Amino acid sequence: MTDVTYPAPQFSLDQAKALAASHFGVAARASSLDSERDQNFKLTAAEGSLWILKIVNASEPASESEFQVALLDHLARTGADVAVPRLRLTQDGTALAHATGVAGEQHALRLVSWLPGMPLAEAARTPELLGNLGAALGRLDRALQGFIHPGALRSFDWDIRQAGAARGRLRHVDDAEDRALLGRFLDRFDAEVAPRLASLRAQVIHNDANDWNVLVDDNDHNRIAGIIDFGDALYSPVIAEVAVACAYSILDVEDPIGAAAQLTAGFHAEYPLREEEIDLLFDLIVMRLVISVSLSAQRKAQVGDNPYLAISEAPAWRLLRRLDAMNRRFATAILRHACGFDAAPGAKAITDWIKANKKSFAPVLDRHPATLAKALVPYGDPAHPMTVTSAGREPDKATAWWDAYCAENGIALGIGPWGEARTVYTSDIFWSRFVEGARRVHHLGLDLFMPAGTRVYTPLAATVKSVEIEEDPLGYGCLIALEHSPEGCPPFVTLWGHMAHEAMASLMPGQELEAGALVGEMGAPAENGGWAPHLHFQISTDPDLAARDILGVGEARYLDVWAELFPDAATLAGIPPETFHRDGRTRPEIVAARKTLLLPNLSISYSEPIKFVRGEGVWLIDDRGRAYLDCFNNVCHLGHAHPDVVEAIATQAAKLNTNTRYLHDAIVTYAERLTATLPEGLSVASFACSGSEANSLALRMSRTITGRNDALVLDWAYHGTTQELIDLSPYKYKRKGGKGRPAHVFEATIPDSYHAPADWPVEEHASRFAQSIAEQIEAMRKEGRAPAFFIAESIPSVAGQVFLPEGYLKELYAMVRAAGGFCIADEVQVGFGRVGSHWWAFETQGVTPDIVTMGKPIGNGHPMSALVTTRDIADRFDNGMEYFNTFGGNPVSCAAGLAVLDVIERDRLRDNAADVGAYLVERFKDMQRRYEVIGDVRGMGLFLGIELVTDRRTKEPATAFARKVNDGARARGVLIGTEGPHDNVLKMRPPMIFSRRDADHLVGVLEETFAAVLAEGA
Ligand SMILES: Cc1ncc(COP(=O)(O)O)c(C=O)c1O
Repeated sequence: MTDVTYPAPQFSLDQAKALAASHFGVAARASSLDSERDQNFKLTAAEGSLWILKIVNASEPASESEFQVALLDHLARTGADVAVPRLRLTQDGTALAHATGVAGEQHALRLVSWLPGMPLAEAARTPELLGNLGAALGRLDRALQGFIHPGALRSFDWDIRQAGAARGRLRHVDDAEDRALLGRFLDRFDAEVAPRLASLRAQVIHNDANDWNVLVDDNDHNRIAGIIDFGDALYSPVIAEVAVACAYSILDVEDPIGAAAQLTAGFHAEYPLREEEIDLLFDLIVMRLVISVSLSAQRKAQVGDNPYLAISEAPAWRLLRRLDAMNRRFATAILRHACGFDAAPGAKAITDWIKANKKSFAPVLDRHPATLAKALVPYGDPAHPMTVTSAGREPDKATAWWDAYCAENGIALGIGPWGEARTVYTSDIFWSRFVEGARRVHHLGLDLFMPAGTRVYTPLAATVKSVEIEEDPLGYGCLIALEHSPEGCPPFVTLWGHMAHEAMASLMPGQELEAGALVGEMGAPAENGGWAPHLHFQISTDPDLAARDILGVGEARYLDVWAELFPDAATLAGIPPETFHRDGRTRPEIVAARKTLLLPNLSISYSEPIKFVRGEGVWLIDDRGRAYLDCFNNVCHLGHAHPDVVEAIATQAAKLNTNTRYLHDAIVTYAERLTATLPEGLSVASFACSGSEANSLALRMSRTITGRNDALVLDWAYHGTTQELIDLSPYKYKRKGGKGRPAHVFEATIPDSYHAPADWPVEEHASRFAQSIAEQIEAMRKEGRAPAFFIAESIPSVAGQVFLPEGYLKELYAMVRAAGGFCIADEVQVGFGRVGSHWWAFETQGVTPDIVTMGKPIGNGHPMSALVTTRDIADRFDNGMEYFNTFGGNPVSCAAGLAVLDVIERDRLRDNAADVGAYLVERFKDMQRRYEVIGDVRGMGLFLGIELVTDRRTKEPATAFARKVNDGARARGVLIGTEGPHDNVLKMRPPMIFSRRDADHLVGVLEETFAAVLAEGA
């Protein structure tokens, strides 16, 4: 090993010239160059060529000089894609010559070409230049792969593997704090770095890309012109090459880790690094500096000041102090990210897992945050009173402002978004440790603002990692860290800040929590660090960070790194993305545009209309990120945006959509499948696009075959939107704008058992109500008329969710058929298994209609409808006139219809409807026992009604109460409707996937609403 204390060679300029001439045949002028332990001369040959004569320290073993020569020779032969000095052979054809020094010692000599360019030390270190330096080193080391020489297997002070030896030099460091600083780094090196170094890839590396050994192009200062001085080359870990180059390149820069990241990424692009190498890089950069400053201290002690040694000492100390203040895991995250690796191992897998499993998390609040009315807390606005008072540590004023805002706007949950730039972080702790002069202003958690005492729950099973009190003003107060290790996901941590101190007593590190278990309560300002009460909820994909080390606020420059290390916790907390981003027109703008562009006859639900932007299962999500439980819209039979239906539609639409005049498999397959759900005999299908069209076809069939026009309907029925159907819909023709009952329409009483005369025995309700039909047929007969058909919903819905008395349709169908009319069952609302026990609601009456019409749920939102009838009727209708419906039965519609049938069967949704429907009826009946206003509860499967009355005896409709419940449920995030001639029946038709949990949510909201409406009336 070279003895660094051995005196450098002492040849004069003239001697150097003479040696160059005699050994290498180069007649040249000589000038002296700096060198620590050898002697170097710059030679300018007569013909203008430039050379360096190196006179090697006499203590250097011959093998090392031979190694240098072999290395340069290897690079010359392999043609490394980076300029390096070229060897000039002696006149004897050898690479090395020898000379005797003043004391008779032997020195090896070699002559190499002089490379043009200026030292990196004199160039501005732009990101581009650093990237190019990394790339040049990457190319160099790629060229050195596979090269080996016995001289490379040396070990000396500058070998990163020997960094621990710096401990022996600590005593030469005068300042105690400086010694302690190096001691800390050395402790970490010994404990955590040295043991891992041995297993890293190693090869011959340059090992000294300091900014005097790197040349920059004189004309293009971002280009590397060459790399010189292979005197420190050795067999060492590849990553040491990067670490050494970084250690020098990042001295005195504004953002040292950013600069190191540029260089490392450049290297990685040419010579792919491994994660385990980058994970040690920060420490190795540090250790290169530790070696440097400790050697300087030692040399100072031994030989006094040497300008070459001291050259990088002061900046090195400055950098060491900055690196000491940094969290090395964050620095490593920046380096990893720059090379395209996860900022923390597994970070992407964790965010992917959270995204993929978002539907399975337990709610973090008593009521799921998605369902609450939310607003962003104005911390993004520096001038806002809430921001100003929060930053000024006046939490009570901030809280008062927020509470008043919530009360005025019906807001239940305030949101402080991830990434928001905030001015509230005023103290010194918010200076960046990475970027000089930058502040940390970007919020890296998700804030949930609710009153102090609000309970919060873990979305996933967890182990308590830590519970502590952080006392800093505007700190976290009580701070909890939970570790989660869900199956199929790398472990990660959630941070819960600003909690009530009570958690210190209720949670113990190591304690296991089940998903949904209580974590604690939001703290009051006195306990939460002095903030308006809220939870700071954050994810750390690095599970090894201590709670206090997790960055709650980050600098702008590294937001993309923090996004991986501390990803937005909104999905884990169940906050819909719409909470944060709005697009399209505002609600008032849409209302205004509708007024000018659309028919005024279109109605809008609710006095304050809702703008929905997304549907998902049982939920409809509005433009403000609030999820409403949809218990009303029976079109989304399988739930909104059901993936099977979406897929079926998309696949078929991408392939072919045409009409029934061409042959296609889907229409016949669908007809087979649909008719198979119906009773024997109902075997011929026809497809259309809306319930109205299906009903219209049913009318056309009946009238064509019977030759009659007259119709029998039930009072308050609705059958569709065309004029001929409005004429059959008392619900329309009797109300505003209606012209009253047309002469060809005969109306029978609604067979509403709840409103049956008190003296009618229940078992006689069917025949008593059927009497009304008998009377209508008789009235027709007297006028010499007879019905073409009788049409009714199998459970009249707009009439107020009226369930027909048992046996009613049987009696009625017999009468109609006896009068020569057809029986049409309108199953547009109630079909497709909604009643649970049967596919079709008419089946619950034990009858088989002549014609069945279907719509709404048939395509889960895709506009389609169907009619099914008997072979006989179909044949009799075939009078030569074509039935063509442009869109009816197209391949895309049939694909949607098939998917709907598949899912109902596959997921046993009829069973679910029966089960959850029965559960809801039971829960509603329980409410009925407690709320006098509930006169009647009725339901079959997921077709449900609650009739509200002011007096159970008189059954006076409680219309105003029903409207308030409807509005109150909406205000609480649940969509229901009111129905019936007096609008006093709460109507519910939730999707067939409605679960008991959804049912509990609905009942919970109804309970709250009933109580509130009653309290308001009191
Ligand atoms: C019972 C009933 N039949 C028919 C229709 C008409 O269906 P569409 O609006 O699809 O034309 C409706 C629509 O509300 C309905 O409720």
